[in-house]
Amino acid sequence: MNVLEVKQLEKIYIGKVNHTALNSVTFDIQQGDFVGIMGPSGSGKTTLLNCISTIDMPTGGELKVNGQSPHKLNDEELAEFRRRELGFVFQDFNLVDTLTIKENILLPMTLDSVPLPEMVNRLEKITNLLGIEHLLDKRTFEISGGQAQRAAIARAIIHQPSLLLADEPTGNLDTKSAKDVMKLFTSVNETLQTTILMVTHDPYVASFCNRIIFIKDGKLHNEIHRGDDRGNFYQSIIDTLSFLGGERGDI
Ligand SMILES: Nc1ncnc2c1ncn2[C@@H]1O[C@H](COP(=O)(O)OP(=O)(O)OP(=O)(O)O)[C@@H](O)[C@H]1O
Ligand SMILES: [Mg+2]
Repeated sequence: MNVLEVKQLEKIYIGKVNHTALNSVTFDIQQGDFVGIMGPSGSGKTTLLNCISTIDMPTGGELKVNGQSPHKLNDEELAEFRRRELGFVFQDFNLVDTLTIKENILLPMTLDSVPLPEMVNRLEKITNLLGIEHLLDKRTFEISGGQAQRAAIARAIIHQPSLLLADEPTGNLDTKSAKDVMKLFTSVNETLQTTILMVTHDPYVASFCNRIIFIKDGKLHNEIHRGDDRGNFYQSIIDTLSFLGGERGDI
């Protein structure tokens, strides 16, 4: 089953000079897949993710999440769609400083009036999976970046979204924490069968995905699949990025 269907998606930013940020982008993502989006700076990765997450409005083409076209919903339906179908993980964690970690994690379910026993049940399962039981009563300033990102992942998946979206989730983390976070993404993907779409610049981080879609100048360039050998996959990612070009610091 396809969780995401993107058909000839187009995004033109209108300004003094119009800019085509996405040009006829077409791809599908199946239930349970773990997909990375890569490409040089300015190639349209964030634009693509923002269109899928409904933060931004495409100017053409079609986009379906779980068979629904979010951009055709009214405001109320859209708010519910985002709460139920999508989970978000950001580079800067986006946790609420005035709440405890537990309150942060429960927030999406509180908004959706999930019954308490069900909340407690899911909280236990997710915090076990992510190894953050000991952080629940702390506040954001008492935990490390890597711990904050684990809490943010818990918040993003506790309502069992159809699609987990992440833009540079390891962008603010050191190498060790980035690796830990990617291991967690992998176990969330494998254990809960959560479908993940992640943007990253980092070839090592990307090598945890099952499939990478490369874009350049707003167009789909090619895609590669992991197969059994992660070392080979990592090398193919590096080769494709250097072929695609862009400044060194960008890839
Ligand atoms: N709100 C906007 N208005 C006009 N142009 C925009 C806007 N947002 C992005 N762009 C342009 O669209 C193109 C794609 O931008 P986008 O942010 O999607 O790139 P990206 O691949 O995420 O880059 P990076 O790797 O640097 O994050 C860029 O040329 C950018 O300047
Ligand atoms: Mg970006």
